[in-house]
Amino acid sequence: MKETVNKQQNSTEGMEDFLPINGTDYVELYVGNAKQAAHYYKTAFGFQSLAYSGLETGNKDYESYVVVQDKIRLILTSPLHGGTPVGAHIDKHGDGVKVIALWVDDAEKSYHETMKRGAKSFMEPTVKEDDQGKVKLSGIHTYGETVHIFVERKDYHGIFLPGFRKWETEYNPAPIGLKYVDHMVGNVGWGQMNKWVDFYANVMGFTQLLSFDDKDISTEYTALMSKVMSNGNGRIKFPINEPAEGKKKSQVEEYLDFYEGEGVQHIAVATDNIIETVSALKNRGVDFLRVPSVYYDTVLDRVGEIDEELEPLKNLGILIDRDDEGYLLQIFTKPVEPRPTMFFEIIQRKGAKSFGKGNFKALFEAIEREQELRGTL
Ligand SMILES: [Fe+2]
Repeated sequence: MKETVNKQQNSTEGMEDFLPINGTDYVELYVGNAKQAAHYYKTAFGFQSLAYSGLETGNKDYESYVVVQDKIRLILTSPLHGGTPVGAHIDKHGDGVKVIALWVDDAEKSYHETMKRGAKSFMEPTVKEDDQGKVKLSGIHTYGETVHIFVERKDYHGIFLPGFRKWETEYNPAPIGLKYVDHMVGNVGWGQMNKWVDFYANVMGFTQLLSFDDKDISTEYTALMSKVMSNGNGRIKFPINEPAEGKKKSQVEEYLDFYEGEGVQHIAVATDNIIETVSALKNRGVDFLRVPSVYYDTVLDRVGEIDEELEPLKNLGILIDRDDEGYLLQIFTKPVEPRPTMFFEIIQRKGAKSFGKGNFKALFEAIEREQELRGTL
């Protein structure tokens, strides 16, 4: 059970970062009913109404709602008629993440630097303008049908992007303390992990932080492998999972079957107070995976002293793990759409920079119990 930590920075150390990224700009989900999805993310997750695009703004093909909580922006997009690429995406994959948008200072340079290193183009550099200024966008493909859009917004002062107007609502449930996207995990096919690790290393200049093999991430029945890629300043972290052989079906394989391809498995969002945040999420009807309560009998022997009382963590089902630099608290929702595909992680870091390896076994046994109920184990 060895966690391979690559503390040495990548081979580009001392060299200029050819793809500087300021942070996650937004995450766009293609969904069957954007209006109802926006209501769900407001009501259940505490997002706030931000921007809207649709018939009233001259968009005849799609309706999009943008919701925001601190630094996290989600776009929820549905088609307004048949025969659209968005509709085809939803038909094949169900609701899921299409765009992981990255905030950059130079969308044109981001495009050319990644293209010359082998990226596949999704959108050539494009300027969008309105009376609030201009935004430059460009985009490349990543795993499955997922894409990265580079967003350069230094010359823009509007609410979100040109083409959107402010979305004003009277129904505004309170935020619940979600702060920023901590990491986003991709599930890729059998034997594809290293291909996508190489893509993030070579095409986007990312470094490998950690790797887990199937001996780390396995239970009696199911297994997966994972490597974590991070950009230069550490603000973007993308773990990449692939299934591994076990006695029964890996959770990654179940995802690939139901998503009908590779895609985003979970969005991890950070909070400064996980007890308050998860209490609010539960009160608002969000379902979480639960580990058996015996987990809490021994967890403090494993992780040592923590600032929080154990009892509320146990009541809420929050998991704890420690690495060399500190500890972390985390919990995972059940999938948030009919197919057992994408879910959310809520994470509070108290020094730890890792991803909760100590919880993998208990967690995957909890997932297996869910798979068993679905008949997909
Ligand atoms: Fe995670």
